[in-house]
Amino acid sequence: MSKITLTALAQTLPSTVPFVGPETQERALGKKFKARLGANESLFGPSPKAILAMEQAAADIWQYGDPENYDLRNALALHHDIDPAHIIIGEGIDGLLSYLVRLLVDPGTPIVTSHGAYPTFNFHAVGYGGVLHTVPYKNDHEDPQALITEVSEVGAKLVYFANPDNPMGTWHSAKTVQDLMDNIPQEALLVLDEAYVEMAPKGTAPPLNPETENVIRMRTFSKAYGMAGARVRVCNWSKRTDQIV
Ligand SMILES: Cc1ncc(COP(=O)(O)O)c(C=O)c1O
Repeated sequence: MSKITLTALAQTLPSTVPFVGPETQERALGKKFKARLGANESLFGPSPKAILAMEQAAADIWQYGDPENYDLRNALALHHDIDPAHIIIGEGIDGLLSYLVRLLVDPGTPIVTSHGAYPTFNFHAVGYGGVLHTVPYKNDHEDPQALITEVSEVGAKLVYFANPDNPMGTWHSAKTVQDLMDNIPQEALLVLDEAYVEMAPKGTAPPLNPETENVIRMRTFSKAYGMAGARVRVCNWSKRTDQIV
């Protein structure tokens, strides 16, 4: 019998799997899916330019990447016209959600999200002892006003909002999202998950304003850029400041 015990917090956690991968389901079914829809991957795959850059970089795969992601942060900063100091690179949004929750959530910290929203956020939040408070969807959309009210009522420190949303596939206009950002109580940090924003109609993303202290926006190469399985870095950045891959 093992004498190794989980932490007190881990012992209280339910056995939860936030995302059951298609491979797991295929093994359970004993057959392959015709289409892998559940993971929301881009079936188009990466741009041919990105594939070429990856082919050229493949021989250097033995190297760890630059821990500061200096070149990638600068390329992204140039692309978005913001200061690189405002950009953090992670291994995808899921990883960044975990780090964020770890930094902000103590056992008992109130957190707000929509009932049925992206489960990986909940997985991390509960995993660090956070207490989830949920508000219902309204007409298949996340309900910004209900989120704001709930944040005030429970004194939440963190509130999650995805635009566009998964699983509903609905989205709000930039104006609605800007209002949400402007009206969230200053004591709460808004996590604005924009994993799908590049695929939304123009006008879905409010302008980036890194000076807003209680909003953190998350983007990814996994969806519109078709690079769910890739580690991303910039190659030969000094020679190709005009090309971001
Ligand atoms: C709303 C949302 N956020 C984040 C992710 C995961 O993003 P990443 O691949 O960058 O971890 C997904 C993937 O399904 C998602 O639906």
